[in-house]
Amino acid sequence: MKLAIIEGDGIGKEVIPAAIEVLDSLSLDVEKVYLELGYGKWEKTGSAIDQEDIYILKGCDCILFGAVTTPPDPDYKSVLLTIRKELDMYANVRPIHHLPSIKGIHERIDFNFIIVRENTEGLYSGIEDIGSDISTTTRVVTRKGSKRIADYACKLANSRKNNLTIVHKSNVIKSDKLFLDICRQTAIDAGVVHRDELVDSCAYNMIRSPWNYDVIVTTNLFGDILSDMSGALVGSLGLLPSANIGDRYAFFEPVHGSAPDIAGKGIANPIATILSLKMLLEWHGALAEAAIVEEAVEAALNMGVCTPDLGGKNTTSEVGNLIARYIKTRIG
Ligand code: NAD
Ligand code: IPM
Ligand code: MN
Repeated sequence: MKLAIIEGDGIGKEVIPAAIEVLDSLSLDVEKVYLELGYGKWEKTGSAIDQEDIYILKGCDCILFGAVTTPPDPDYKSVLLTIRKELDMYANVRPIHHLPSIKGIHERIDFNFIIVRENTEGLYSGIEDIGSDISTTTRVVTRKGSKRIADYACKLANSRKNNLTIVHKSNVIKSDKLFLDICRQTAIDAGVVHRDELVDSCAYNMIRSPWNYDVIVTTNLFGDILSDMSGALVGSLGLLPSANIGDRYAFFEPVHGSAPDIAGKGIANPIATILSLKMLLEWHGALAEAAIVEEAVEAALNMGVCTPDLGGKNTTSEVGNLIARYIKTRIG
């Protein structure tokens, strides 16, 4: 596998090395291609990502990404949005479930749902008109964009509990009516049991009764917000992995950002990134290796090895190192 590795900024530079130690412990045949992208690159060159980077990324099988900081420049073109759009990775898949020994906000731990977030349009269209009195952003919902994310979510629902929730705000935002109609019709055609919820009440219900959800499909910004919110359900944003999937490319990253408030302290939780690596291995077909990574993460948590966001005393590298050593012992 030819793997592009982007540490990015802030804690991206801490969590990615921990995940790479875990990857190395698996002894897989991986060609690593490191790219420097993000705020650091922007400070040096005036560009956070350029066409040459996109070309290199397109030559790799998949990408492991840490996090980037948004530079203070109104003309700044987001690295993440550029990669997602250029490589047409339209499904942002964010699994949310309890992890052993970690307390979230509920005693009940029997929740396990996946947010499938449309990743290329909605309020992230990039069509903006920024003025001093009026600024507008065009929210784009297309049949093609809605259909392919609906297909992805229905396929996933069929492989799980056959329970889809379509999350929208079509009572006010009329562009969501198209999204809702297409998701409903796709679910009917695929034989998927479905319901829909307005995003505001969904946020309430999801925090209150997360065990009532299986697969959630929603537009770009709603999926962004609901996924960070779900970090509280599992106990830390530092535990949530994600996959950006397209027909040809895929890239894997923690849900969290570059966390400037804790960057450089060695206390960032690397588990979101290590579980993103697990999703990468699954996508690549290395199912046994993915299962061992998950087992090793659970073993570390069961041993109480964790970072301060989870109430632990360990550093980022200690957590990564223990998980890597567990894997080496396990595979001999
Ligand atoms: P953030 O996700 O970086 O941090 C939010 C809070 O969660 C902070 O208190 C942080 O300390 C904590 N946190 C996040 N990850 C953690 C981890 N692994 N371990 C322990 N605690 C963790 O969000 P923010 O502060 O709003 O954004 C900071 C920067 O990151 C911004 O420039 C933003 O644009 C960018 N960002 C990038 C990505 C990405 O690259 N994927 C995602 C979100 C935000
Ligand atoms: C995420 C992030 C990004 C998003 C930002 C940094 C562009 O918050 O991956 O969730 O909004 O998609
Ligand atoms: Mn986000």
